[in-house]
Amino acid sequence: MTKNYYITTPIYYPSAKPHMGHAYSSIVVDFFARFKKIEGYKVFFLTGTDEHGLKIQRAAEKNKKEPLEFCDEISKTFKELSKTLNLSNNDFIRTTEKRHHKSVQNLWNVLEKKGEIYLSKYSGWYSVSDEAFYLDNEIETREGIKVAKSSGSVVEWLEEESYFFKLSNWQNKLLELYEKNPKFILPKSRKNEVVSFVKSGLKDLSVSRKSFSWGIQVPSNKEHVIYVWLDALTNYLSALNYPDTDNDMYKNFWPADVHMIGKDILRFHAVYWPAFLLAADLPAPKRVYGHGWILSGEEKMSKSKGNILDPIEIINEYGLDSLRYYLLKEVSFGNDGNISKDKLISCINSDLANNFGNLCQRVLTFTAKNLGLEVPEKDSLTNDDLVILNSFSENYKNLIDFINDQNINSYMNFIVDQMFIANKYFNDQEPWKKKDDVKRLKTIIYTSLELIRKISTLLYPVIPQSSLKALSIFKIKEDEIDIETIKNNSFLKPGLAINKIDILFNKIITND
Ligand code: MSP
Repeated sequence: MTKNYYITTPIYYPSAKPHMGHAYSSIVVDFFARFKKIEGYKVFFLTGTDEHGLKIQRAAEKNKKEPLEFCDEISKTFKELSKTLNLSNNDFIRTTEKRHHKSVQNLWNVLEKKGEIYLSKYSGWYSVSDEAFYLDNEIETREGIKVAKSSGSVVEWLEEESYFFKLSNWQNKLLELYEKNPKFILPKSRKNEVVSFVKSGLKDLSVSRKSFSWGIQVPSNKEHVIYVWLDALTNYLSALNYPDTDNDMYKNFWPADVHMIGKDILRFHAVYWPAFLLAADLPAPKRVYGHGWILSGEEKMSKSKGNILDPIEIINEYGLDSLRYYLLKEVSFGNDGNISKDKLISCINSDLANNFGNLCQRVLTFTAKNLGLEVPEKDSLTNDDLVILNSFSENYKNLIDFINDQNINSYMNFIVDQMFIANKYFNDQEPWKKKDDVKRLKTIIYTSLELIRKISTLLYPVIPQSSLKALSIFKIKEDEIDIETIKNNSFLKPGLAINKIDILFNKIITND
């Protein structure tokens, strides 16, 4: 039976070009998607852009463009970024696409038919920047301006006719969902926030706007557009051809395994989204993971703060895999992470150049010089060889569990340890002193090559390009990578010609 896995990034607002925060969400999802692929899953990885609402309409006006023209331009930069980041996404959805309109209007009709939506009047605070409604106790005054406490975004007073979704009806069902699925919201600390928010009492949610037109019309009332979050969240279903729930995409991939999002949009994904779905008699996703923010100079990046880090600039300077490795290893996943060029450089130098790159070069150069470029025959393995080789099979289940729990740091720590241990093994075994004992020498080299192969396999989700380059030593191609092979200590066939490769990572020399 095929095993399926559906993972999504948030769909990004094309209000300005992408920054490091967006790149981070996408890289993290790519990491999980690639791991699941080499674990044998049929993976569907979705990303895209969220193009409706007042935020986008105003951004377009500011740029003196029609909204769609404006979205076309900026959405393109997000699409290009997914190429630059070497994402393995299977689809890129735009909420201005027909397929999406159809899904959203259908979901609306279902909710309306079921009596979950009613017409009334909204009066309260609204942040256009967050596209969110706030209660009185969620706002404060900073320097004479009313802002949302959580995000610091400016709020404006809104009074207009609006359709409401009966969110209050779903309070108990949501609490039940969280209780029955203890890992529905991760990390745990964020789950607690959501549970106490829901327990404090849910108010019905305004789900349409009348005072502007950039959005999807309410099918039964052309004066209203559908609230941009109800519109945006539905993207996860539109890409599976909803409302056609008999098609293979929907049947194979819904409910989603993981919606990966930033902590700022947890309430929308862990409260509103499952409530809409339950109300429409559709299954809720299996998990919502709210990761932390990438901070630039201790603060969340934003255009207004002028502290935007451009992923393209960093990639051009240091290379994509270095950036991917750094973000996945150095940010404590789930928490905020302050990133800096100094830390990036030290990560490249110590882990990638000195540790992994060096291991590959030393072993290959030694093999070429002493045994010719082919995998040697191994003799019986000693305890030293077995301890290190077996640590992969012994930790196999842990590694799978780490991924299933989105525990990126434990996964990365295992790799870093193995790189270090493999280098140490090569040093301690001193193959250069074993020229009189060819059998042992060959066994050490065989073991070292196996270690390179296993580590490179584990690195595939992290640094795909470099992993593939390392695996090309053994002529292993992308579609042949299988995580299970890390349990095999005799994967490499003696006599197999091995390719020499260029240096994987150059050390970055700094002036200080
Ligand atoms: N359009 C909505 C999401 C709709 S999903 C149905 C949105 N877009 S956004 O462009 O503002 O942000 C999307 C996501 O980008 C955030 O949730 C988060 O995952 C990521 N990040 C944006 N800034 C970030 C950081 N500074 N750090 C890490 N990620 C952040 O919200």
